[in-house]
Amino acid sequence: MTPTIRPLTAVFAGEVSGIDITQPLNAEQVAAIEAGMDRYGVLVFHDQPFTDEQQKAFSRNFGELEHTAGGNVTKPSEKRLDPYMADVSNLGLDHKPLARDDRKRMFNLGNQLWHSDSSFRAVPAKYSLLSGRVTVEKGGQTQFADMRAAYDALDDETKAQIEDLICEHSLIYSRGLLGFDDLTAEELAMFKPVRQRFVRTHPVTGRKSMYLSSHAGKIIGWPVPEARAFLRDLTEFATQPQFVYAHTWKQYDLVMWDNRTLLHRVTRFDDTKVRDMRRTTIAGDAVTVAQLAA
Ligand code: OGA
Ligand code: MN
Repeated sequence: MTPTIRPLTAVFAGEVSGIDITQPLNAEQVAAIEAGMDRYGVLVFHDQPFTDEQQKAFSRNFGELEHTAGGNVTKPSEKRLDPYMADVSNLGLDHKPLARDDRKRMFNLGNQLWHSDSSFRAVPAKYSLLSGRVTVEKGGQTQFADMRAAYDALDDETKAQIEDLICEHSLIYSRGLLGFDDLTAEELAMFKPVRQRFVRTHPVTGRKSMYLSSHAGKIIGWPVPEARAFLRDLTEFATQPQFVYAHTWKQYDLVMWDNRTLLHRVTRFDDTKVRDMRRTTIAGDAVTVAQLAA
């Protein structure tokens, strides 16, 4: 059976029904989901009680899984999940909410800033798939903003101005925005900035989008304050309500999105409550711009 997709806003985001994605899919079902992603940018599936293995198996229909190394300050010995599962929960190894001043927690608060997953990697991510294993009642929504629609709404002068710009992205910049800057020499080396195009063209639909992200901290050839003011201004423009879908979680929702065309962020919630969210990420297949030699 092929799934049905219902639009969630006038612009993007779709809710999928009529499919059990915890079980193996046929080629037709996978193609229907890919086509839905190209059109809607974010798809919501309800009642999918995944195990980690099932989530990884579903994710692999869309490409190679991204390894989580280099994406956070959690030491391998402190990780709850296997290295292909990004732990987006607020939990420690003891399955309890992290202490208020825990470094891992403070680092993860960066997810409250609009971002695109892995834009800090030389080859940035294609899709993210987030499974709500234990969700919270209040707050903790995931908001998405459509950077294709936002690009389309720019005036021609701004479109021309950004067309060939190249930005530097790094976790150093996004965490620095929240004042989290006590990084070790090892972390600074791991989070070395990478270059990304400002304007991306989707490989299937040909639509252009702005590749904004809180990880973006420089524009090549621009004074830093001018670049930051510009990035902030365009991010404010691109995340106005008409470009946003806010997802309110229910347990066992699975939400997948295209990082090439969307921004997302989590809204604040009571961090003493358990919120167990687990993400698989589909690796991209190309750089967006040539990288500098190391
Ligand atoms: C993510 C992320 C937001 C959330 O999984 O990449 O930013 O709602 N999560 O936890
Ligand atoms: Mn994210």
